[in-house]
Amino acid sequence: MSSADTIMWRNVRPQALHKIDEQTWPPQPHSLPLPNEVLREASSVSDLAAFFAIGEAWSQMVAHYLPASPRVLDVGCGCGKLARFFYLIPGLTYVGVDLYRPSILWCSKVFAHVDDRFRFFHFDGHSEVYNPDGVVKASEYAFPVDDGETDMVVCASLFTHLFEPDARHYLAEIARVLAPAGRAIISIHVTPEAGSSYSGDEARIDIDKTYFEAMCAEAGLAVAEQIGVIYGQTAYLLARA
Ligand SMILES: C[S@@+](CC[C@H](N)C(=O)[O-])C[C@H]1O[C@@H](n2cnc3c(N)ncnc32)[C@H](O)[C@@H]1O
Repeated sequence: MSSADTIMWRNVRPQALHKIDEQTWPPQPHSLPLPNEVLREASSVSDLAAFFAIGEAWSQMVAHYLPASPRVLDVGCGCGKLARFFYLIPGLTYVGVDLYRPSILWCSKVFAHVDDRFRFFHFDGHSEVYNPDGVVKASEYAFPVDDGETDMVVCASLFTHLFEPDARHYLAEIARVLAPAGRAIISIHVTPEAGSSYSGDEARIDIDKTYFEAMCAEAGLAVAEQIGVIYGQTAYLLARA
């Protein structure tokens, strides 16, 4: 990503969203439009092939662990890289949250025809990278889901950007919203600086695996499975302890 691109996506104002909402191709019948490159870049990668490859791999991995008619919460959902694949699963209901307002505005618009199944929530969380004017502390944010009402929480490349207090709070929130048999899938980078268990900045956070597992346990979550490495990130399947 060039510095010019960085400036472009970070400075997009919601009021200007329609200007970045133009499609190269005309709308296709009965299909979701594609997010433009600004929104894709803010969700990690603008390259369309990589966007689809990562989205497909993640959603197939998550689908492997879903029960019938699952209730899914996607924290840090971006511009719907996973949601557009979950959309193909009959009976799946979905809540996506993110602090990058243009992504949530765009998703709310393109999924409006199925807003009984797919809902998107912006929260004005502070992030130097994604939402520098945000006023809400992520460490105090309550996910917009009732206790025990979620079958699957997905955090795809989210904890790779969270400072430790925010990550600890989000783990506790995940434990709160999971149904008794619910599961969460979280990806992390696992190579912190020497002598550190948790290092980096919002551009990239690394967490020692043993330290992350202890954080999960303190939040009331148990490691059900170390799934493997997906596009360079280590994926964990978690359950309520
Ligand atoms: C690398 S992108 C991944 C987006 C999406 N999960 C995907 O796989 O396409 C990280 C996302 O997390 C969001 N984010 C960053 N900090 C957050 C926080 N504290 N709470 C919720 N979302 C956050 C960003 O706005 C961004 O959309």
